[in-house]
Amino acid sequence: MTQLAHPKNRDDLARRLEAHGQAHVLQFWPRLSAAERERLAAQIASIDLDLVDRLVKTWVLATPQPQHFTRIDPVEVLPVPSRDQPAAREAHAAGEAALRAGRVGLVLVAGGQGTRLGFPGPKGTFPIGPITGRTLFQYHADRILHAQHAYGCVLPWYIMVGETNEAATRKYFEDHGYLGLDPANVFFFTQAMMPSVDASGRMLLDSPASLAMNPNGHGGCIPALVDRGIIADARRRGIDTLSYFQVDNWAINLADPYFIGYHVFANGEFSSKVKRKTAPREAAGVFCLCDGQVRVLEYTELDIYPQLLDTDAQGNLLHFAGNAAAHVLSVDFIERIYANYDRFPWHCSHKKIAHVNPAGDRVQPDTPNGFKFETFIFDALVYASGRPLMLEIDRIAEYALAKQMSGPGSVEEARANMNAYWGAWLRAAGCTRPLDGVNIEISPVFAITAEEFTRRARNLKWPAAGNIAIDAEGRFV
Ligand code: UTP
Repeated sequence: MTQLAHPKNRDDLARRLEAHGQAHVLQFWPRLSAAERERLAAQIASIDLDLVDRLVKTWVLATPQPQHFTRIDPVEVLPVPSRDQPAAREAHAAGEAALRAGRVGLVLVAGGQGTRLGFPGPKGTFPIGPITGRTLFQYHADRILHAQHAYGCVLPWYIMVGETNEAATRKYFEDHGYLGLDPANVFFFTQAMMPSVDASGRMLLDSPASLAMNPNGHGGCIPALVDRGIIADARRRGIDTLSYFQVDNWAINLADPYFIGYHVFANGEFSSKVKRKTAPREAAGVFCLCDGQVRVLEYTELDIYPQLLDTDAQGNLLHFAGNAAAHVLSVDFIERIYANYDRFPWHCSHKKIAHVNPAGDRVQPDTPNGFKFETFIFDALVYASGRPLMLEIDRIAEYALAKQMSGPGSVEEARANMNAYWGAWLRAAGCTRPLDGVNIEISPVFAITAEEFTRRARNLKWPAAGNIAIDAEGRFV
């Protein structure tokens, strides 16, 4: 039992909380068991209450003031790479060499709560494949298997999880044989948590004996990578470059030799992929040069910085550089900025947060009732030396988000996207039958590019009707 947890120290705990206007979280203390008291006290002890005070004052009790920039310019973006660009060919060779040399590791951020998707389980276990029911994790693992085979390397997979989904994520991997990967190369590491607060800044209880906590945002991977020994593991393996991606992008090109090569060539610290915005008000953060520094401005800031909607004489959006949430970071950089994490800005979002009311009943609100605080990975950009490199992607090939079931960035949209993308591969490989309304799935172990697919699918006999799913060996399933 911890010092604070001992009932005789309840008064100390209460005094500490009272100083921050948070003593209400002890309201059920008299009816808690010794173990529950211990747990609650330990949870409270883990919280930086001064920080919570500061965030509540800035974000909840006041109207947050946007940062002021004198100049906001578009960032320079490298074009979508292709074989006919000499620079891209060189980058590809450098990226491939880095992969072959085992210098690259993978960081997946999968610690989020996935509230919009509303799926009962970690987002990575969502069955994204409309025919096979294969999950997001399976698709990512298949891409890793493909890359390991193609480059004769091991790609250690470092997966960030949150306290709430760690056990279920680990169990999923164990129950599914680590999806064909060697367990010695798959790591789970936990991020820190932050308390969620109500509209008056009071911390919410998730149960009578526990606070409602949320993971501290994908920016939390910076301290977690160091604190949980991931950087040390990467160093031991000779890894100097980390490819960062998020769990809900079904189409992620997680070991992209072009991207890695450009980063390595530029001696980069933090490089990012850019998706061209499809509409001025698309709900996507935009890379911008803010007073000379590359930053991401959120779509919620479009009205604060109306120049983000400016177009050129042809009507093209000047600030088209949408954040594709795929980055490459150097290991040195992460170690170097570790100490700066305390200076990362916090972001606040208004969310529906399940909690217990004063009567002790659990409430699942229908509308946002509270706030969660997070840090974001892209706030590390300002610490990168030199100009961070931005590379445009072919959006249909690399960006298919499963944030929610329908609407923008949804499962529905991602499936339509992949049907169109893979449908074009089928056409190029000689499939002439109608594909309208047909679901298509192609295992990334079989092919990850149209060229590879065309080469390998030459002898396939296309089924005359129905959906088309092709497995790792090129068989219809
Ligand atoms: P999102 O911002 O989409 O958040 O995360 P989310 O938690 O998945 O979903 P909502 O907002 O509750 O609906 C983008 C990526 O960052 C990861 C997510 O797992 C996802 O891969 N993430 C987010 C973390 O790893 N930790 C966090 O604290 C937040």
